[in-house]
Amino acid sequence: MTDDITEQYLPLLAKLLKHERFMHSLGVRDTAGLLAERYGADMQKARLAGLLHDITKNRNKEFHLNTLKKHGLDADKLLLHSRKVWHSVTGAYYVRDVLGIDDAEIFDAIRYHTTGRAGMTTLDKIIYTADFIEPSRKYEGAEQLRKTAFEDIDKACLEGVKFCIEEQLSIPDTVYPDTLDFYNDLIYTKGDV
Ligand SMILES: [Fe+2]
Ligand SMILES: [Fe+2]
Repeated sequence: MTDDITEQYLPLLAKLLKHERFMHSLGVRDTAGLLAERYGADMQKARLAGLLHDITKNRNKEFHLNTLKKHGLDADKLLLHSRKVWHSVTGAYYVRDVLGIDDAEIFDAIRYHTTGRAGMTTLDKIIYTADFIEPSRKYEGAEQLRKTAFEDIDKACLEGVKFCIEEQLSIPDTVYPDTLDFYNDLIYTKGDV
């Protein structure tokens, strides 16, 4: 792709992320682009959000806390939840404020890629789904989910959010309220409750 706007971020990303996470990010970028094509979303935004969604994943606790405090976010409430949630919030701010990508849709897609939320946009769902079906993800049922994602993205999201909630319950870990909102939203959308 000659006018691929994601290319310029590759050196920075390679520096900030561990190799495996970098490869995962490339996979999410490419998968998000394909899903955007399938569901009529903006392909450039999907590829960019996909590439950058985990940009702060390998930063330390201090970095996350400082970012959350700087933006006056409810750090205490976030602290009650898995650290997995932090990077999606700090990543969205990093992309907007440090990289200067001032796009509310990209911000939200990164912000909610771990938790989901009520009223997920198509782009939000694309990044959420691409995150768990990109080619380097290996788990039982991955192939079937890749197929499902291109047939019915809501169905794929429901599988994803159910997996997350089940995992959190089994640890046990807290379930972030946005995750439950996303789950409920998907069940309402199905219309058979
Ligand atoms: Fe992530
Ligand atoms: Fe990811």
